[in-house]
Amino acid sequence: MSPDGRSPWWETAVVYEVYPRSFADSNGDGVGDLRGVIDRLPYLASLGVDAVWLTPFQTSPQVDQGYDVSDYCDVDPLFGTLGDLEDLIAGAHELRLRIIVDLVPNHASVEHPLFRAAVAAGPGSEERSLFHFAPGGSDGGPPNDWPSVFGGSAWTRAVPDSAEDLDWYLHLFAPAQPDWNWRNRAVGDFFEEVLRFWLDRGVDGVRIDVAHGLFKAEGLPDMGDLPPRADGLRINPLARDQEEVHDVYRRWRRVAEEYAPPRLLVGEVNLPPDRAARFTRPDELHQSFAFTFMGIGWDADAWLRVAEELERVRRQSGSLPTWALENHDVQRAVTRFGGGQVGEWRARAALVAMLGFPGCAYVFQGQELGLPGVDVPDAAKRDPMWERARVSRDGVRVPLPWTAAADGFHGFSGVRDGARPWLPQPEGWGLCAVDGQGQDSASMLTLFRQAIRMRRALVGDGTLRSGDPAEWSLTPGGLLLCRRSGGFVVALAMGDQDVPIPDGRIVLCSAPLVSGQLPPDAAAWVLTG
Ligand code: GLC
Repeated sequence: MSPDGRSPWWETAVVYEVYPRSFADSNGDGVGDLRGVIDRLPYLASLGVDAVWLTPFQTSPQVDQGYDVSDYCDVDPLFGTLGDLEDLIAGAHELRLRIIVDLVPNHASVEHPLFRAAVAAGPGSEERSLFHFAPGGSDGGPPNDWPSVFGGSAWTRAVPDSAEDLDWYLHLFAPAQPDWNWRNRAVGDFFEEVLRFWLDRGVDGVRIDVAHGLFKAEGLPDMGDLPPRADGLRINPLARDQEEVHDVYRRWRRVAEEYAPPRLLVGEVNLPPDRAARFTRPDELHQSFAFTFMGIGWDADAWLRVAEELERVRRQSGSLPTWALENHDVQRAVTRFGGGQVGEWRARAALVAMLGFPGCAYVFQGQELGLPGVDVPDAAKRDPMWERARVSRDGVRVPLPWTAAADGFHGFSGVRDGARPWLPQPEGWGLCAVDGQGQDSASMLTLFRQAIRMRRALVGDGTLRSGDPAEWSLTPGGLLLCRRSGGFVVALAMGDQDVPIPDGRIVLCSAPLVSGQLPPDAAAWVLTG
C-alpha cells in the first residue's frame, strides 16, 4: 500500500534506477557490483525513494552490458553471486526499500545454452524453433528486410561459412542477442519459470525489457515501404505491438497476483500513449513508462501536448502515467535541456515538476546529482550501438562520483589502487559528487531529498491523491501549470521571463523567487486555497 493506505504502493512511488556496473565497485575491478549496491543502501534510503530498479545483473557475456542474458536465473560473477543478491534484497527490505529486477524476454544471448543447442541442431530442428531461424532470401541475403535497432540488418548467418547450413537468425538488437520465438509455447513456459524464480527470491517487482516486442508479425513479412516509424529505440511496426503479446502479460499478471502482496510489473513499452495504454489494462501490466515524455526537449508546447495526451489516455484507461526524464538509454536531462548552467537549472526544475505530477516517477542514478551527459572518447566507448550505428549511450552510464576527492575514482572504487572504471570519468567529475552536494543546502541532491520528503508528506496526509484527474494549461508567458485535487499546483516556468504563479503557500521551489515571481527555468509546488 502507498502511504495513503488506499492504493498499491507503486501508484505514488518514486523508483530509483541503479545501473549496477556504474554505481559502486566494491572489489576494485573497475565494474560496479551487487556488494557495491549493498554498501550504498543507506544512501538510497537517505534519498527517501520507495524502490530500486536494478538493471540486468544476470549471467551474460556483457555485449549489451547485461541485456544479453545467457542464464536468466543466476548472477553474473562480474556482479557477485545469488547470495549477494539475496543479501541485497534483505538489506533493502530492512530499510523499507523495495527491489525491482530487470527481465529480458525478447532476446537471449548467443551464449545461452538453448541458442547454442539450436545452432548445433541444424536447420529445421525443434531446437531452432525456440528462436527465429530462416533460410536466406533468393538473392542469398537475409530472410527479410528488417533493420536492427542497433543498425544494419536484423539477421545474421547461424553458421557463417557453412555450405550446408544456410539459416539466418533474427536479432532486433545486436547479433549477440537472438530473439526468442514467442509463437513457440515452450518459450512462454520457460519465461513463466524465470518470472517465478525471481518473485520467489522476494523481489517486489519486475521491469520487462522491450515488453512490446516479443511477438513479430506472423510469417515475418518484409517491411517494404512501410513508413519507417523507427526513431531512437523504436523498432519496425511488424516487430512490435502485435496483439498476441497481451496474453503473455495476462498470464504474468496472474502470476504476480499469486504473491502477497502482489508484485509490480512495469514494462518498457516504447509506443505512443494510446497504444502503450493497452498494455496496462486491468489484467495486464501495472505500469509502462511514458516514453513520449522522456523524448521531449525544453519546449513548453511539447510538454503541454504530451501531458494532455497522457491525461486523456489515463482518464480513458484508468491507468496512471509512469513518469521518467532519464534512464540508461537516453540523454541526461541537463544536457538535453541545453547543457551548462541553464541545463542544470532546467533539470532541477523538470525534476521538481515531474515529482509533483500525478503517478509514479522513476529517476536514474546520478539524476539526483544533476550529472550531465559525458562526451566519452570514441576509443573508450562500449555501447554495441556505437559499432553498428555510430550512436552511443555510454555518456549517461559513466560511473558515479561519490566523493569530491579523486581517490578511488571519486569513491566509485571501494579498493585502494583499484582498476580504472570501465568507462572513464571526465575532468571535474568530483564537482558533482555526492559528498559535496550532501553538505550544500542549495544542491540538486538536497533539492531532490526535499522534494521526496514533501511528496511523501502530502501523499501521507491525503492532499495528493494520485487517482484524481489533473488539469494542465500553459500561460502566454510560458508557465506550465498542473492543477491537482487538494489545491496542489505544479508551476514550471519554461519561458524567458519572470512569471507570477497562483496565490497560495509555496511548499517547494527549484530556485529562489524574484520579486515574488518564478524566474525562467524554475519550478514550484503551490498549495492554493
Ligand atoms: C532496452 C534496454 C537497452 C537495451 C535494449 C536491448 O531498450 O533498456 O539498454 O540495449 O533493451 O536489450
